[in-house]
Amino acid sequence: MSDRSFPEALNAQIANEFSAAMQYIGAAVYYDTETLPRLASFFYRQALEEREHAMMMVQYLLDVDEEVRIPDIKGQQTSFDDGVAPVQMALEQERRVGEEIYALFELAREVKDYRAEQFMQWFVKEQVEEVALMQDLLSVVERSKDNLLLVEEFVAREALGEEGDDPTAPPAAGGGG
Ligand SMILES: [Fe+2]
Ligand SMILES: [Fe+2]
Repeated sequence: MSDRSFPEALNAQIANEFSAAMQYIGAAVYYDTETLPRLASFFYRQALEEREHAMMMVQYLLDVDEEVRIPDIKGQQTSFDDGVAPVQMALEQERRVGEEIYALFELAREVKDYRAEQFMQWFVKEQVEEVALMQDLLSVVERSKDNLLLVEEFVAREALGEEGDDPTAPPAAGGGG
């Protein structure tokens, strides 16, 4: 039996999602500095998505009448060795978040919290997509690391990470989800 309650663990995940959002802003700022606007927009968009994940978790805690904690802001890096590094960081982060999501899912099962288990299901699917997205981007960035303008074209042409509204997504606090 875990020593953490599900709401406690979800509050910790809210911090992780906000920190993912900040990390992606850091990556976006780096690409903007390098005048790679498509990659910059891609990461600004990802940052918004991470914020949205956090707000879905906030809404869930409000709905089940549990305490919500908003975390402190931790600084994130805005400079990288090269154009591949931010994407490597992003892929590592998405893999790590995947593990965190599975752990939350497992905890929900362990404590027989069926609402929580159902809530976490969407995030399991979401992480599969986000890891796959970053894997795709990493292989393209690695292949064209000497000419990132090719990556810019790819991101624009494929409308990378620009999926439409997902009607199965949990509601986010403040709407907009
Ligand atoms: Fe997320
Ligand atoms: Fe993500």
